[in-house]
Amino acid sequence: MHMDKTIGQLALERPHAIAVLERWKIDYCCRGNRSVAEACDEAGISIGELMAAIGTDKVATNDWGTLTELQRHIVATHHAYTRQACETLDLLSRKVAGRHGDRHAEVLEVRQLTAELIGDLLPHMMKEEQILFPYVEGLENGGTGDSCFGTVANPVRVMMMEHERVGELLVALRAATSEYKLPDDACLSFRALYETLAGLERDLHEHIHLENNVLFPRALRLEEESA
Ligand SMILES: [Fe+2]
Ligand SMILES: [Fe+2]
Repeated sequence: MHMDKTIGQLALERPHAIAVLERWKIDYCCRGNRSVAEACDEAGISIGELMAAIGTDKVATNDWGTLTELQRHIVATHHAYTRQACETLDLLSRKVAGRHGDRHAEVLEVRQLTAELIGDLLPHMMKEEQILFPYVEGLENGGTGDSCFGTVANPVRVMMMEHERVGELLVALRAATSEYKLPDDACLSFRALYETLAGLERDLHEHIHLENNVLFPRALRLEEESA
């Protein structure tokens, strides 16, 4: 994050953050020329708080350290990002469907698919944060591995099935929008809707890859070793 960046540039680059800015009543359009620092100051928050809510604190490394660290990274970045994107997408998809559904029927389907995606993602992340991740953290800290779900393979299987459904919805969204192609008369909300969807897709790909291919196999091995 460059400190000389303006709050308007931030909103453009990270449209999923619009809901965060709205929540703190940070004006990013009419007064978008202020620096991020200035806007945060006025809103009475620190830049760190803003960035944490947006979920941009990505670690550019493949060395994930302990499973507990990896899980904390997933929650602090991908889950935070996804929650904010869902909030923004809920607002925008309703708005765009209401305003442009008559001339662009695809946005009605986008609204429906987006609502389903949000309805899947929010409880999914909650299950990871409240059930699976604490269990894995317990195992790593020498816990007994007692759980309400038997072996960790059970929740892992459920999470992977849910990931697959999310992947199908992302493919359906791409198809419905002809690869997020904007009509010539697309307004700012329309554009922000498609950009946020495409950004969430990118992030979910990275997020699901980390869980399916790094976290889950290591958690299964750890449980075996602790048995
Ligand atoms: Fe996750
Ligand atoms: Fe997940």
